[in-house]
Amino acid sequence: MVEPVIVEGQRVFVLDQRFLPGSKKYIEIKCADDGFQAIKDMVVRGAPLIGVVAFYSLAVESINNPDVPSLLKMADKIGKARPTAVNLKFACKEFKKALQKADKNLSLSEMVFEKAKEFHKKEVVATQKMAENGLKLFTKKSRVLTYCNAGGLATTGLGTALGIVRYGYEKGMVKEVYACETRPYLQGLRLTAFELYTDGIPFKVICDNTAGFLMKQKKIDAVIVGADRIASNGDTANKIGTYTLAVLSKENKIPFYVAAPLSTVDFSIKDGSKIKIEERSGDEFFFFLDKKIFDTSYETIYFAFDVTPANLISAIVTEYGIVKPPFFRNLKKLLRDIK
Ligand code: MRU
Repeated sequence: MVEPVIVEGQRVFVLDQRFLPGSKKYIEIKCADDGFQAIKDMVVRGAPLIGVVAFYSLAVESINNPDVPSLLKMADKIGKARPTAVNLKFACKEFKKALQKADKNLSLSEMVFEKAKEFHKKEVVATQKMAENGLKLFTKKSRVLTYCNAGGLATTGLGTALGIVRYGYEKGMVKEVYACETRPYLQGLRLTAFELYTDGIPFKVICDNTAGFLMKQKKIDAVIVGADRIASNGDTANKIGTYTLAVLSKENKIPFYVAAPLSTVDFSIKDGSKIKIEERSGDEFFFFLDKKIFDTSYETIYFAFDVTPANLISAIVTEYGIVKPPFFRNLKKLLRDIK
């Protein structure tokens, strides 16, 4: 598996995902602003991963700039690099908490690096547990459709949706994967396909608009996607187009699953209408692997995410177990049970 982030002592390198699978280029994060820019420009992407990179970027910043008020400010800034994924805000909050806990045996940067590594490790462990829990979703050897990239490149570790696929394949419960290409950034074609190919899992890439046709032909047994933010009632923000897949799944009586660590659930919001949806520049429509396809001044509409209403979701898989509807009650119960 390719590591999206590498830490050597107090140096942090991230894989530039814009060029995958063509080239595997790592760039060094030398300060919090480098982290901010890498997240904003989608050098790194995927909800859990941007949280991990934000924490490390702030840890790197603390080496040359151990001034707590300015680190708090940087944390606020980096937390806004992308607005939809709650994991990013959660990571910045955890960093701020870490700043309050001075350790007399460690310098500030040593202490926050320790915390960043702990945070990172927790995310990796969560993906393993989600994969194990997700295995219970399969009642037969299944053909699974997934969207965007919710793999190791988006999370570190096994991935969320793709972690379940990986583990399911290893245990003989996944037969084949359909990876939607995921316009316009092509996370499916470039990243999910790359991960599945590397692991030797049988897959086919499909254009996003092929999903419904395959469902109608009964070629898909389950849909599993990741999430950027889940509201208390289960409404789920994920890559734009997820909602379309959920509607198609319902129409074709195919179970639609969401996989995410509990840190993706935003218990402070009641429903999906409160989730801020990122809008990106339409320039990304006209580029492929950093090459401009053609010159244009067309206007575009480019929401990076949409919200799938909870009533279209069959279950949410977390590291603590599978949550079934009604999500409002059962997500709260899960939170209570683990405390
Ligand atoms: O815009 P991206 O590539 O950051 O979007 C990523 C997704 O939508 C993923 O499905 C989500 O972050 C879950 S990743 C485990």
